[in-house]
Amino acid sequence: MKVHVRKGTLAEATTDAAIVTHFEEETNLGSIAAKFDENSGGMIGQLITRGDFTGRLNEVAVLYPREEFSTKRLVLVGLGKRADFSLERLRGAFSKATQHIRTLKVSDLSTSVDFREVNLPLDQTTEAVVEGIILGLYRFTRFRTIDRDEIREISALTIMEERAGAVEIIRTAAKTAEIISDAVLFARDIVSAPANEMTPTRLANAAMESARGRNIKCTILEGAEIRDLGMNALLGVAAGSDEAPKFIIMEYRGGKDSLPIIALVGKGLTFDSGGISIKPSEKMDQMKSDMAGGAAVIAAVQAAAELGLPVNIVGLVPATENLPSGKAYKPGDILKSFSGQTIEVVTTDAEGRLIMADALTYAGRYKPAAIVDLATLTGACIVALGDHVIGMFGTDDKLKREIREAADLTGERVWELPIWEEYDELIKGDAADYKNSGGRAGGAITAAVFLSKFAGGYPWVHLDIAGPAWLAKDKPYIPKGASGVGVRLIVRFLRNWHLFHSMS
Ligand code: BES
Ligand code: MN
Ligand code: ZN
Repeated sequence: MKVHVRKGTLAEATTDAAIVTHFEEETNLGSIAAKFDENSGGMIGQLITRGDFTGRLNEVAVLYPREEFSTKRLVLVGLGKRADFSLERLRGAFSKATQHIRTLKVSDLSTSVDFREVNLPLDQTTEAVVEGIILGLYRFTRFRTIDRDEIREISALTIMEERAGAVEIIRTAAKTAEIISDAVLFARDIVSAPANEMTPTRLANAAMESARGRNIKCTILEGAEIRDLGMNALLGVAAGSDEAPKFIIMEYRGGKDSLPIIALVGKGLTFDSGGISIKPSEKMDQMKSDMAGGAAVIAAVQAAAELGLPVNIVGLVPATENLPSGKAYKPGDILKSFSGQTIEVVTTDAEGRLIMADALTYAGRYKPAAIVDLATLTGACIVALGDHVIGMFGTDDKLKREIREAADLTGERVWELPIWEEYDELIKGDAADYKNSGGRAGGAITAAVFLSKFAGGYPWVHLDIAGPAWLAKDKPYIPKGASGVGVRLIVRFLRNWHLFHSMS
């Protein structure tokens, strides 16, 4: 979808549909709605007084103006109560309005992003509107062959703004939101792709493609290099698969040379069957999404480079499948990790922490100022926090605060869980330093505690995205399936990071 910003009033937009918002139980209309109301003999007033449109959150009504209006449809969308207004509600409402519009014969739409009266910065409301529209329209249709001509797309969005001084702010914010939203869609596409296509090799190719034409250096470590380095935890997990493991490295240096590196590490399990400790077959298909952390890292590096953020970052994605075979690693096996520490395999289904351990150790090569990892690591995190929440763990209060602040802006729910030393004994190995499972109790926590042993003492935050990476049901601007969770969060964190750190 193309996004344009033009100077003028929304009434002047010559589009198939113009979206106008309305707060619940309020009678005053915005200027374009008021103009339409006048022009139509009070139609909006009637809609509201008869109770057919109340402005309830995400409620949609479509009206048809007379000729003197340049837009062909006026789409009213409810924003709910003014007192409960938020960026998150704005994203959802614009998504819902646009999803409705898509079912009509509409190819372009217009709107205004002026929410002056609710006291939010113009760049933030602009970003929320553009994000809501782009993210809400996502569908994974590449494999559909039947009735393809019925797949409608909206091709353009025009944002109208009267105040000359605001046009540039909106233009910059809209461009920013477009870049970030496209990165989220890129991540969703990777996660949605089936595992027979999205192998570790294809994931590495996706990273290479993402780097091409952008200021990103992408390096793929192949089997022999992974072996020479001694990433035996990654190799252990990969042993049962005929697909070669890959270790993806994406470097973007947009900041001064003197700025330290931020390392982003993402779990790239392209399919997790559980291995010899095989999972039940129910919902096993969902385990094609076990590389959602890796996809988020690749997409976040892409967005950072495209935005030209003044930060230095490296994205690391260990990529492999976890399958049973005669060559597969087994419960009881002991692996010597890249860090030199040894790990007893209690279950081959706790594979994520194994490949992440080696990747976290690799991050230490950059002497990073921060390591943030994203992984669909544990079902236990879903048990603890539910489907919609990212579990956060970490060793550094400042870093955790920065992630929390970023999450507050992007609407990606983050909740901290502890990694106190009382948990250490649960992952102490019998024959080796550690074991890869601490049992059922506190499963998300013991997984995080395990990872902490490989973070090399650098400021580190682990984000367990097992719940929100894949949605069973639609959310207002996140259609069910791959959510692309973490991309906006990490990009927001990086945008803030340069504000907090680059000056000093
Ligand atoms: N990829 C899974 C975690 C997962 C489960 C993600 C459900 C998304 C939805 C991970 O590799 C796994 O299997 N974890 C085990 C660990 C256990 C065996 C210690 C789990 O959570 O059951
Ligand atoms: Mn597993
Ligand atoms: Zn897994």
